[in-house]
Amino acid sequence: MNDTRVAVVTGAAGGIGRAVARRLADDGFHIAVSDLESTHGKLDQLAGELAAQGVRSHAITADVSDEADVDRLIGTAVDTLGGLDVMVANAGIVTAAPLLDLSTAEWDRVMSVNARGAFLSYRAAARQMIKQGRGGRIIGAASVSAHQSSALVGHYSASKFAVRSLTQAAALEWAEHGITVNAYSPGLVHTTMWDDLDRELVALQGGEPGDVIAGAIPDIPLGRVQRPEDVAGIVSYLASADAAYLTGQSVIIDGGMLLT
Ligand SMILES: NC(=O)c1ccc[n+]([C@@H]2O[C@H](COP(=O)([O-])OP(=O)(O)OC[C@H]3O[C@@H](n4cnc5c(N)ncnc54)[C@H](O)[C@@H]3O)[C@@H](O)[C@H]2O)c1
Repeated sequence: MNDTRVAVVTGAAGGIGRAVARRLADDGFHIAVSDLESTHGKLDQLAGELAAQGVRSHAITADVSDEADVDRLIGTAVDTLGGLDVMVANAGIVTAAPLLDLSTAEWDRVMSVNARGAFLSYRAAARQMIKQGRGGRIIGAASVSAHQSSALVGHYSASKFAVRSLTQAAALEWAEHGITVNAYSPGLVHTTMWDDLDRELVALQGGEPGDVIAGAIPDIPLGRVQRPEDVAGIVSYLASADAAYLTGQSVIIDGGMLLT
């Protein structure tokens, strides 16, 4: 890979995305961190922290479901940081609802951020990488839900199956350009997303806040919920020289919950 390595991370204001940005900064990348406009305070703070450790970093707000926003994100990252080597399409949302009660609007909203957002991010990154002619790494956020669906999150699972499928097709189409395309499939990572999901599931199934997360731990062979840093480690690997021969995969990292 090129000396000036630049990574873009979406959904970087918190959770997994923030841990990924920090890890890639430790790995020596210059980083563009991106998230929704509503998170700009956290995003600016993260960019400031990365800059303080000597990394060139830039905060760029963008909605990944908006084509013009995603194209602007990549264009601004390239203009300010000098290119694009790694794209981490991490942004995503989840909600809980039985399929019979799921509104069409909610189906569209989740598919729009998770599936359309991944497509727009992958495509904009690949166009830039092909133009540069030095290959690159595209890395998406799948999930264990991309390998096996669960009740009450059918729309989320469908969107993550879409990410996994997109990752396979993109890997096949862009291999000739030296671009590898992979995804990470976490299990239960304790972030804002899971606290919100826990609340929604408890509202549907009964119980107390925290019950769903606590109830899942006995089914995790490694005996604890996942930390964002666990996911950042696999992203670091996927972005590294060691992963040069890996493409088209959605790598499950879930403490052993789902064995394939
Ligand atoms: N937490 C888990 O257990 C888990 C498991 C499997 C997969 N994932 C996936 O990992 C990714 C990160 O999850 P997390 O747990 O860190 O969630 P999180 O909610 O903590 O962070 C997600 C970030 O994405 C941002 N975002 C939401 N919609 C956006 C949009 N339209 N455009 C740009 N940014 C947007 C949010 O503002 C937020 O900062 C998601 O794609 C999620 O589906 C998470």
